Amino acid sequence: MASASRTFSRALRTAAPSFRSTTTRSARFAVPAQNAFRSRRGYATGNEEAKDKYEGNPTGMFVGAGILLVGAAGYAAYTYKPELLGLEGKPRAPFVPRFENYQEVYNHIAKLLEEHNDYDDGSYGPVLLRLAWHASGTYDKLTGTGGSNGATMRFAPEGDHGANAGLKAARDFLEPVKAAFPWITYSDLWILGGVAAIQEMQGPKIPYRAGRSDRDVAFCTPDGRLPDASKDRSHIRAIFGRMGFDDRAMVALSGAHALGRCHTDRSGYDGPWTFSPTTLTNDYFKLLIEEKWAYKKWNGPKQFEDVKTKSLMMLPTDMEIVKDKSFRKYAELYAKDNDAFFKDFSNAVVTLFELGVPFEHPEDQRWVFKSSFD
Ligand code: HEM
Repeated sequence: MASASRTFSRALRTAAPSFRSTTTRSARFAVPAQNAFRSRRGYATGNEEAKDKYEGNPTGMFVGAGILLVGAAGYAAYTYKPELLGLEGKPRAPFVPRFENYQEVYNHIAKLLEEHNDYDDGSYGPVLLRLAWHASGTYDKLTGTGGSNGATMRFAPEGDHGANAGLKAARDFLEPVKAAFPWITYSDLWILGGVAAIQEMQGPKIPYRAGRSDRDVAFCTPDGRLPDASKDRSHIRAIFGRMGFDDRAMVALSGAHALGRCHTDRSGYDGPWTFSPTTLTNDYFKLLIEEKWAYKKWNGPKQFEDVKTKSLMMLPTDMEIVKDKSFRKYAELYAKDNDAFFKDFSNAVVTLFELGVPFEHPEDQRWVFKSSFD
């Protein structure tokens, strides 16, 4: 501002003499210069010197007025559009979200989870977790395709895959969060939704790294990358092995079925796995091992029900976890030890949620979000 006004006064000083003697002063002190009035009066009363000044040098007046106009325009530009003068024209530094910003997103999701407690068994948590898992579980370690980078389930080919039926509920749930925090990518948001879901349903902390970018429809993965619940252990190993998981991690991840339920209008299967489908515990393993399971007699796909209450269910793939010796070993460990389950589950979920993402932040810079009840 100081340099702009200096330039302006310098311009005025070099203007025509007549202009200097009048306007500079009035511009400076905001009162009309006495000389000017005297001269005018002098001219009216026949003062020849003054008459010469105005009659003899009209160009000076025009130049002066022009400079005044340019000066005014310059001042206006300085005030309202500084970039036109090249003063503040440099673009502002881009907003780089930090941990606090992501914690705000987490808090927003947690608040919405609490507010919308009229969905299913009282929470969107399970379906949010399923969205994050299905976004990540398409990863193929050989080709490096799929995974949580991209959020390609937004597009019809992938969104319409049979395995993703019903996940629109989770994507729609997160839309207001995206609107409130437009800087977050969908792919980071969906995974943060999964993290918040687990923690808010009293599961373990899930350390998080941001850095996923959204990709276009060309990056949709082919159908068939997610597990088919009617299949056996070799299918489970093939699917999770393709992502890079071993038996222990596969069993730990399956413990997510303590949460939520099957819906006949989505997968064709029906019912919850546990009595507390909105709280993460090792109950899935306890029930698998301790209860008696039999085929459900119904007009739907082959599934199991607990003999005692007939109110719980297991998928054919869930039953493989107690039938296969290697899988069962871990199921027994987790049934006895909730801490061991939480520890392995957290580690496996962190890996799952990061599949296929070229992160800038190293692994030791993951963030741990505060839960709403911390
Ligand atoms: C062999 C592996 C798996 C199979 C075959 C499988 C299959 C299924 C099926 C058929 C449903 C019911 C969907 C519906 O009708 O709404 C379901 C729900 C669910 N799955 Fe899995 N799943 C597997 C692994 C996982 C993993 C690894 C996770 C997470 C880490 C997970 C989390 C969930 C959750 C939270 C639900 C409940 C969704 C809701 O309540 O809407 N599943 N799964």
